[in-house]
Amino acid sequence: MQTIALEGRGDFSEWRDAARALAAAGVSPGETDWRIASPDGELFGAGALPGSPPLEKTARPLTVPPAFLPLAETVVCHTEPSRFHLLYTLLWRLQSDRFLLELDADKDVALARRLAKNVNRDSHKMTAFVRFKEMAGAIGGRRRFFAWFEPSHFVVARTAPFFRRRFADMDWIIATPNGTASWDGDNLLFDNRPGENPGHGDPTDDLWRTYYTSIFNPARLKVKAMQAEMPKKYWRNLPEADLIPGMIANAEASVRAMAEQAAKDPPTFHYRVRQTSNASPRGEPPPVQTIEALREEARGCTRCPLHCMATQTVFGEGPTSTPMMMVGEQPGDHEDLAGRPFVGPAGKIFETVLEEAGVARDAVYLTNAVKHFKYQPRGKRRIHERPNRGEIDHCRWWLAKEVELVKPRLVVALGATAFYALSGERKRLDQVRGEVIATQSDTMLYPTIHPSYLLRLPDEAERRRQRALFVEDIRHAWQLAADLEARQQGGGAP
Ligand code: URA
Repeated sequence: MQTIALEGRGDFSEWRDAARALAAAGVSPGETDWRIASPDGELFGAGALPGSPPLEKTARPLTVPPAFLPLAETVVCHTEPSRFHLLYTLLWRLQSDRFLLELDADKDVALARRLAKNVNRDSHKMTAFVRFKEMAGAIGGRRRFFAWFEPSHFVVARTAPFFRRRFADMDWIIATPNGTASWDGDNLLFDNRPGENPGHGDPTDDLWRTYYTSIFNPARLKVKAMQAEMPKKYWRNLPEADLIPGMIANAEASVRAMAEQAAKDPPTFHYRVRQTSNASPRGEPPPVQTIEALREEARGCTRCPLHCMATQTVFGEGPTSTPMMMVGEQPGDHEDLAGRPFVGPAGKIFETVLEEAGVARDAVYLTNAVKHFKYQPRGKRRIHERPNRGEIDHCRWWLAKEVELVKPRLVVALGATAFYALSGERKRLDQVRGEVIATQSDTMLYPTIHPSYLLRLPDEAERRRQRALFVEDIRHAWQLAADLEARQQGGGAP
C-alpha cells in the first residue's frame, strides 16, 4: 500500500505530481491510501509518510481527455477527504476507457461532477457575498479594503481573479479560513494558511445596508429561496443581514403601501421632483459656499430615481483653482463602486489621452453631467444605460453649482450628454465638436467626443485617427483655458 500525504488546500499541482508518479509506477487505486497532512507536516493518522513516495517509472505515459483537467482542478478544491482517491481512480480508469467521462451514470463520474458542482457554487457565493471594508491609510493614492469570507471549500485562489477584474483600482485582501488572496494593483497573491477575521465594521457597512434596503422588493419576497441562496454562515458576515428579519416582517405592509402608491396618478414623488428640478431638494438655495460642502450635500441626493439603484453619488474631483473643468456623461460600473469619476475602462483611455496632450489629470476639475450610475441589471452584470433628458435636467442643478464654485475659464463637454447638460441644446456632437462657445457666464464651452466613443469604434485605423483628433482637442482646450486665464489675470478683455 502506498500512502500519499498532501496538504490538500486546493492546489491541483500537488495531487497531479503525486498521481503522475503513482500511475507511472503502475500503482493501482486500490493500492493507494491518500491522506491529508496537518499544517505542521504531521499526518492525520499514524504510520503514513509525508509527500509522495519515491517510485520507479515503469508504465506508459498518461493520457486524459481535455474535459478531465478542468474537472480535476475543480474537484481538488473540495473539502471531501476522498477527493484525491476519486480523482486517481478516474485517472487510472481513463487509461483504458477514454470515454469514461461521458458516462454520467458511472458512480465515480457522478460523484466527481457533484463535487465540482459544489465547488463552483461556493465560488459563485464568494463573488456574491464578499463585503469589503475600507482600511485606514491609502497607500500611493490607492484605497485599501479588507474582506472576511467563510467558504465551504478551497475556492479563494480560483475565485480571486474575478475580484481582480472587478476591483482592479483598489488594493484589497480577502481573508478566509481556507487561505488569503491579496491584490496591490500589480500582483495577485495567495497564501494558503488560514486567515483571521479582525471583525471590525466601517462606514461601508452603512452603504451596504442602504443599497440592500433600496433593492429589496417586498413583492418578490421568497424566504425559502433566500435561505437556500444565503445560508446562515454567509449571513454572519453580511452587514445588511440584521436588516433582513425586519424587512421580512414588514414585507406585507410594504407591498400594501406600494400598491396604494402605484394607484396615484401622477406619482407624488415624480411630481415633487419635477417641481424642484431647478431648486435645491428643499426648494431653497442650499447654504453651500465650497465644493467640499456641495460634495457632502450631493451624497444624499434623491432628486431623481437614479439614486435608488446606484451605490453612491459620484461627485466631481480636482482642484478648484483650475482654469479647466471637464464633464463626462455619468459614472459607470467601476466609478459607482469606487465613488470617483473616470476610473473604469473609459477613464483609463481618457488618462492616456490627457497624458499625451500634456495635461495632468489632477490639474483639471473632472466631473459628470449625471452623478449616479444608471444601468439595467442583467444576470450578474450591470449594463450601462444612457441617462434620459429628465435625469440630466435634475442633475444639472449640481453641475451648475460646481461650475459656479470652481469658476473655470473653459468647460470641456465630453460627449453629447455633457454638451446638453451644459448648453441645454440637443445637438449631434459632430455639429459642434471643437467650437468655442460663449455662455452666459464668464465660462467658455468646448465640446469634444467622449472617451468611450474610442472604445466603441470597431475599425482600428478609424480608432487611431479619432484618438489623435481627441488628443489634439484636449491639447487645444488646455491651451485655450490657459490663455483665457492669463488674459483674465492681466485684466484684458476676454
Ligand atoms: N464615463 C463617464 O462619462 N464618466 C465617468 O466617470 C466614467 C465613464
